[in-house]
Amino acid sequence: MGAFEGVVRSGLFRIGGGDAETAHEWTLRRLAGVSRSSLALAALRRRYAVAAPRRVFGVDFPNPVGLAAGMDKNGVALPAWPALGFGFVEVGTVTAHPQPGNPRPRLFRLPASQAVINRMGFNNAGAEALAARLAAARRPLGVPLGISLGKSKVTELADAVDDYLASYRALHPYGDYFAVNVSSPNTPGLRTLQDREHLTALLDTLVGERPILVKIAPDLTDQAVAELLEVCLDRGAAGVIATNTTLGRSGLSTSDGARAAEAGGLSGRPLTARAREVVAFVHRETGGRLPVIGVGGILDPADADALFDAGASLVQLYTGFVYRGPGLVRAIARRAAR
Ligand SMILES: Cc1cc2nc3c(=O)[nH]c(=O)nc-3n(C[C@H](O)[C@H](O)[C@H](O)COP(=O)(O)O)c2cc1C
Repeated sequence: MGAFEGVVRSGLFRIGGGDAETAHEWTLRRLAGVSRSSLALAALRRRYAVAAPRRVFGVDFPNPVGLAAGMDKNGVALPAWPALGFGFVEVGTVTAHPQPGNPRPRLFRLPASQAVINRMGFNNAGAEALAARLAAARRPLGVPLGISLGKSKVTELADAVDDYLASYRALHPYGDYFAVNVSSPNTPGLRTLQDREHLTALLDTLVGERPILVKIAPDLTDQAVAELLEVCLDRGAAGVIATNTTLGRSGLSTSDGARAAEAGGLSGRPLTARAREVVAFVHRETGGRLPVIGVGGILDPADADALFDAGASLVQLYTGFVYRGPGLVRAIARRAAR
């Protein structure tokens, strides 16, 4: 057990009487503070930054381990993430309209299962606010920035394309790639945007000068994934991010009690095997023509190795970072450097 798991994590998990979102907000505030101190950033960088360069969909990554979408939705602590060892950062998901998300509590840790359930519902300050923050940034980030786009709750599904387009227009100068999030389980109807007709319209509107990646759900059938990949290849998507959280509930420990029954998307250990399966399927089905960012249930370096072996060019983590801290990012990047 490292210092993070021994001391830091038990402290963090007690914040807010154990409310996971309060701990998350506290951590983000601390990291936003760190982001304003060149000294603190340099100290972290010396400890955690690892070079393992990769070039994927025409973008240069200092190492292949990224921060998954949802951790820093509004980009409030951007400089901290590369200092903690991440080789790229995906902010968002943002929507064209600012929105509060679902009522709290909406974020639950399931430590016995090394998992998290969330039904945040795209709480975010909106695309314009993110654009203003990125425009005001004093220094370049130093690692590629991905921007995850989603549909505003107030926008009808039929108008989804315009909603994504409004966000994209506000943000396109700032992203090294854009992820279209059509796979969150927490916005009603969103996942239907993964079907052929909707996805074709979305990609035809967005594909242009920046790489556009499609983030997919782990709950699709092979046939639905195959169809989606056809559209991605046909319409010029730059890659696929596999996977988002699952609506499934297998792999949970009974020790997590009632929290296991909370509604929302499940991430972490219960997702490891399925994420690997989807990454392998995408790689096989496309003959490696569509780069894959593998995400889901990376809790140990071996889990990242398994995703790379299955065909992922890059990986991302969220839940693994909650449970293991920046030591995990460094360990994966070190193995990737060998
Ligand atoms: C609290 C929370 C919020 C999330 N928010 C987003 C989001 O806004 N957009 C998105 O594409 N994925 C979001 N995700 C999904 C993660 O990016 C990732 O795909 C998923 O959690 C699986 O990876 P993990 O097992 O490493 O957590 C969120 C996950 C969690 C736990």
